[in-house]
Amino acid sequence: NWKIDDWIEGAIKDIQKEVGEKQIILGLSGGVDSSVVALLLKKAIGNNVHPIFVNNGVLRKNEVEQVCDWFQNQLKFENFHYVDAETEFLEALKGIEDPEEKRKIIGHQFIKVFEKTALKLEEIHPNIEYLAQGTIYPDRVESQAGQGGKISSKIKSHHNLTLPDDMKLKILEPLKDLYKDEVRKLGFLLGLPQELIGRHPFPGPGLAVRCIGDITKEKLDTLRDADAIVIEEIKKAGLYDQIWQAFAVFLPVKSVGVMGDYRTYEYLCALRIVESIDAMTANFAKLDWSILEQISSRIINEVIGINRVVYDISNKPPATIEFE
Ligand code: XMP
Repeated sequence: NWKIDDWIEGAIKDIQKEVGEKQIILGLSGGVDSSVVALLLKKAIGNNVHPIFVNNGVLRKNEVEQVCDWFQNQLKFENFHYVDAETEFLEALKGIEDPEEKRKIIGHQFIKVFEKTALKLEEIHPNIEYLAQGTIYPDRVESQAGQGGKISSKIKSHHNLTLPDDMKLKILEPLKDLYKDEVRKLGFLLGLPQELIGRHPFPGPGLAVRCIGDITKEKLDTLRDADAIVIEEIKKAGLYDQIWQAFAVFLPVKSVGVMGDYRTYEYLCALRIVESIDAMTANFAKLDWSILEQISSRIINEVIGINRVVYDISNKPPATIEFE
């Protein structure tokens, strides 16, 4: 695609002209958008880009290892920074049941951790002057409409993020006029791992909005195990790329079951598997019963704490894709 090729060259020149020898920090989520920004910046200014990846405690199974491996080992970012803030986030989320409250707390907490990290980095690299973000065109439209948007939209709404000690960062949003399919193409041309490019969307507040009611590490671990089985089986059936999103939801409802000679009284897991083209509308996927059966048996047999699996057959609208 000649247009995108030209776009890359132009974008690299613009970035080089604007940034020069200065350094850039970037909030990296491990999703396509921020990853493409990271690679684009690396092409433009080499290791003067500092991607910061925060473990907010509500990531999926093996996600930390996966993202660290991509950026450190495969893409060789020398200034990649991993921040483990799981304890802080879970502490801040303790006892919170309200979905919007959860989102707010995660947003605030993220900015706090990010600022702290940025300040520490600035001590070593006084040349940091920019904050880059993976904002794409639909994000800007969504923010205006007051939708959830990305976590970073809380930063995005400021033109100049003011950090403590007057560390002022200029915002750089190189993808701000692009659509998702264009960003994916870019990712492909820039050499992003195919697995990363094709990843299903994952909300900024992560598993917090898929673990209904109050959140604990135990519930999250249970959900992570169930979710990993869903993804594994969907991939095994060759359906991952055709499906918009597929995930498990932890429902804080207990029901009775029987395992061998024992009566069980455990939690419920809902499967949410939808087809969509833009997330504005979505239909539940009419999967083969045998695939659903395989997912259900594996979850009940392998995941401690869950003894019943239900399939969500609601379309959007009127239901939403996420449960919270
Ligand atoms: P809903 O649940 O509104 O989701 O049908 C539509 C799409 O947006 C994602 N989503 C979010 N993404 N922060 C995000 O970054 C959020 O708070 C959020 N809520 C929902 C959801 O996964 C789906 O792709």
